Amino acid sequence: SAVEYGLDAPFSVEYHDSIPSTNARARDLAAEGESDTVVLADEQTGGRGRLDRDWHSPSGGIWLSVLFRPDVPMAHAPVFTLAAAVAVTRAAREAGVEAGIKWPNDVLVRHGDEERKLVGILTEMEGEADRVSWVVVGIGVNANVDPAELPDEANPTSLSTERGEPLDRRLFTQRLLEEFDALRQDTGRVVEAWREYATTLGKRVRVETPGGPIEGEAVDVQFPGALVIETASGTEVVSAGDCEHLRPV
Ligand code: BTN
Repeated sequence: SAVEYGLDAPFSVEYHDSIPSTNARARDLAAEGESDTVVLADEQTGGRGRLDRDWHSPSGGIWLSVLFRPDVPMAHAPVFTLAAAVAVTRAAREAGVEAGIKWPNDVLVRHGDEERKLVGILTEMEGEADRVSWVVVGIGVNANVDPAELPDEANPTSLSTERGEPLDRRLFTQRLLEEFDALRQDTGRVVEAWREYATTLGKRVRVETPGGPIEGEAVDVQFPGALVIETASGTEVVSAGDCEHLRPV
């Protein structure tokens, strides 16, 4: 409940026991001229994921969206997605869960040679090329939820499962928002922080891009969030796509 939260965050916080989607609500607040607001829910009934997928959001998760108005060109906005991945990874590690980031923004936990998804991030924005009007960063953390309640395809895990006990959602959310607030104001440091937690670098990857699949070794990430891949025919810099980690050949 809202009482469980009582956050002391660098944002104003709007809490809902149940809402269709915190991202949709944050977009509405953006249209009303709001900024620096977090929409937080215990349960979402119409949560959205990347690539127009559903995002299952049962009670017990941390489903939140941060609305803000950074003074940056549209092309820099992907850095906020990486910033969210870093912030949530740090909060997870402080909670005792060794999370890592799969490019660009899936936060995962390794089990042997399997990777299970802990967090999903969906960033939406509006504005002109030279200046963003608003950004909504939606963060879905499988916190105190049973992965058996979530769809199998995502190969989900949760913080409570990894820890073997429930998590204090207030403390976790507080840390997450503090980290995110610091990083959004210092975007020049985001990529370096991201590299620290990246599980993708050094791996063979296959990325489905709008222009077709690209396969090779992921060697680096560049501001504001592009993946650098060494392929058989040269270096490719990929700014968006669905990434799969391949087994070494
Ligand atoms: C993904 O596909 O990996 C991204 C999932 C993003 C889910 C979060 S939960 C809070 C916010 N509200 C939504 O409807 N989606 C995002």
